[in-house]
Amino acid sequence: MLGLKLLTDPRWANIAEDNLEEILSDHAWCEQKAATNAITILTYNSEHEDLVTAMTEIAIEEMEHFKMVHDIIKQRGFTFGRERKDDYVNQLFKFMRKDGSRNDAFIDRLLFAAMIEARSCERFRVLSENIKDDELAKFYRDLMISEANHYTTFLKFAKKYSERRNVDKRWKEWLDFEGQLIQNYGTKETIHG
Ligand SMILES: [Fe+2]
Ligand SMILES: [Fe+2]
Repeated sequence: MLGLKLLTDPRWANIAEDNLEEILSDHAWCEQKAATNAITILTYNSEHEDLVTAMTEIAIEEMEHFKMVHDIIKQRGFTFGRERKDDYVNQLFKFMRKDGSRNDAFIDRLLFAAMIEARSCERFRVLSENIKDDELAKFYRDLMISEANHYTTFLKFAKKYSERRNVDKRWKEWLDFEGQLIQNYGTKETIHG
């Protein structure tokens, strides 16, 4: 799925389902961070008009997702927890190239975003196919489609603003790194846990 090297064990969905308040809070913060990341990308690369347009749309969509998750938290009488660290994303952040040219850093930031979208999309699929709660199963199926579109958008811009060959090579490195990294996860009630 989306080039991912390792698929999530479906038992992770049971862990998540047993801790809905926790997974929903974590999920809401993932959406907030995705919006923030899109805003950061447009802030640092504002000379690309088409990118600014697309990142604006993604930031708005991610905050719509945030609102949907937050609404579910309220409807179910749960408490929205404080923002928490996302160790998985922090490890990906460390892998992101920060040296080289400004454009290299820009392209790797897009690939970092695409990587998170790909794994989030896969986790949403696992949730949608394995949890017994019908409302949430449908909710996660709809979100899965939206995040897959974001994944495509980030990769498309990486290929547009750099040599396709270089992007393909670097994307393979991202997939290999993530395939190793994700082996340490799949046991916690967080979206990337
Ligand atoms: Fe989202
Ligand atoms: Fe997204």
